[in-house]
Amino acid sequence: MPSLSDFIYTQFRLTIPIPTASFASKTVIITGANGGLGKEIATHIVRLGASKVILGCRSKSRGNETKQSIESTLQCNPDIIEVWEVDLESEISIKGFVNQVNRLPRLDVLINNAGIHGQKFKRVYGTERTVAINCIGTFLLSLQIIPKLKETARKYQITPHLTFVGSALYDVAKYPENHGQDIFDWYGEESHMDSMNQYVIS
Ligand SMILES: NC(=O)c1ccc[n+]([C@@H]2O[C@H](COP(=O)([O-])OP(=O)(O)OC[C@H]3O[C@@H](n4cnc5c(N)ncnc54)[C@H](OP(=O)(O)O)[C@@H]3O)[C@@H](O)[C@H]2O)c1
Repeated sequence: MPSLSDFIYTQFRLTIPIPTASFASKTVIITGANGGLGKEIATHIVRLGASKVILGCRSKSRGNETKQSIESTLQCNPDIIEVWEVDLESEISIKGFVNQVNRLPRLDVLINNAGIHGQKFKRVYGTERTVAINCIGTFLLSLQIIPKLKETARKYQITPHLTFVGSALYDVAKYPENHGQDIFDWYGEESHMDSMNQYVIS
């Protein structure tokens, strides 16, 4: 568990270097990019010269507002940013997104940023929603996109990147004991809902 001094250091003292590597000619996808950290990541990657930045959003209109906001901040070419719909709660939506990805000439980077900390119990993919989106939906998407990243690596001789945005709070997660054969099934029981722990464990 992080100590209080670690917390104070990382939150208030630590200065993380701003990335400066060029993204020229690269295509990048960021999920959950219509706000928060996702929007900041997208903005910086456009600033670093990416050829194409795809905002994976579950609402096209919120995504389009973000596209406009980044374009007005950076005064960049409107062909760079595209908004594609993806809802990590839906296998069909993920499949449609993957089909679109497969039509891209290249994909250099996938940043899995979309995530939730759900407060109310809802069952998705046979488990609790936070676990479903942060783990199952995220991996359903990533695993189907790995072939495109590998194809790009071979074709353009680059090192592709697959990134997951997480939280240092994983360090305080309590792994449930006696969850039986299938932990996802166990979390699908409403009586096992522990919102904070499910967020940090996922
Ligand atoms: N902020 C922090 O201090 C912090 C700390 C540690 C880790 N993180 C992690 O960093 C990531 C971004 O955090 P944030 O603070 O920027 O959160 P945020 O502002 O709530 O953004 C989360 C994004 O995920 C999207 N999303 C939620 N459910 C989705 C779904 N089913 N399908 C597709 N997209 C979905 C949201 O879309 P909508 O706008 O449509 O809801 C939103 O764009 C999260 O994974 C979070 O767990 C954040």
